Amino acid sequence: MSKPETWGKAEGDELRLGSGRVGTLPMSALDGDSPVATEFHRLYSRLTRMDVQKRLSVILVTSARRGEGKTTTSAFLAQSAAAHSDKKVVVVDCDLRRPRLHEVFGVNQRVGMSDLLGSLVPLGSVIKSTELPNLKLITSGRMIGVPTALFESSTFKAAVAELRANFDLVVIDSAPVLPVADAFFISTTCDGVLLVVMAGKTPVEVVARAGELLSEGGANLLGAVINNVEEVLPYYYDYHYYGYKEGEEGGESRQGRRVKKT
Ligand SMILES: Nc1ncnc2c1ncn2[C@@H]1O[C@H](COP(=O)(O)OP(=O)(O)O)[C@@H](O)[C@H]1O
Ligand SMILES: [Mg+2]
Repeated sequence: MSKPETWGKAEGDELRLGSGRVGTLPMSALDGDSPVATEFHRLYSRLTRMDVQKRLSVILVTSARRGEGKTTTSAFLAQSAAAHSDKKVVVVDCDLRRPRLHEVFGVNQRVGMSDLLGSLVPLGSVIKSTELPNLKLITSGRMIGVPTALFESSTFKAAVAELRANFDLVVIDSAPVLPVADAFFISTTCDGVLLVVMAGKTPVEVVARAGELLSEGGANLLGAVINNVEEVLPYYYDYHYYGYKEGEEGGESRQGRRVKKT
């Protein structure tokens, strides 16, 4: 039996998603000087160039299935954008089913998006500060049963409009596309969508279906962010990091030892 085809390989990506691959994230420590930080800087820079063609103020980060790196991508993309520009950036946890942005930023989950969408509180009271003065965070808020209807509502559209008016860049983290319709509805109010793909794991037809669903709703698919390239592109470190770090430190780095030799 042949192995299922997965997307994100070094060559021959058959599926076209927006501009194709717009970012590749190695698995590594997520500190300031890590390969991941470098990749997010590049990803942000690419988005800035796409921005010239069409204003990208509100970006949805989603994926076909769960656990592909949406929250990681949202958090670090927003952080990178804030760190490398003077833009006012906000990252919003719209994954009301498995919220995790509050964990990443180490803040309380409440009060947040669900409270705002339930018209319980004004926007000002859900905006949390981060270590970067130009990066704000909106956590998920209290857990609610089935949030899909909230994202379809005019209240959500109004909330996004208010965020647009107050920030230069809004990065939205969400639930995955295939199991629930939340991301589909969110995408209709966004300027662009990034699809995170766990390379080597997600079958190509699964990614394709997610892309199709979003396109049917009129989403502007910006491209795919390929996660977990350590498994798929082992030479990545050799080229961008491994050799460099080895020389710099006079020995094999921690990341270097993790490189698979092929
Ligand atoms: N590029 C990466 N480097 C290191 N850890 C990662 C990376 N991408 C994802 N992870 C880890 O994998 C897990 C799932 O990622 P997450 O961003 O929460 O996925 P999702 O939001 O799509 O469910 C988390 O524990 C996260 O820290
Ligand atoms: Mg998540």
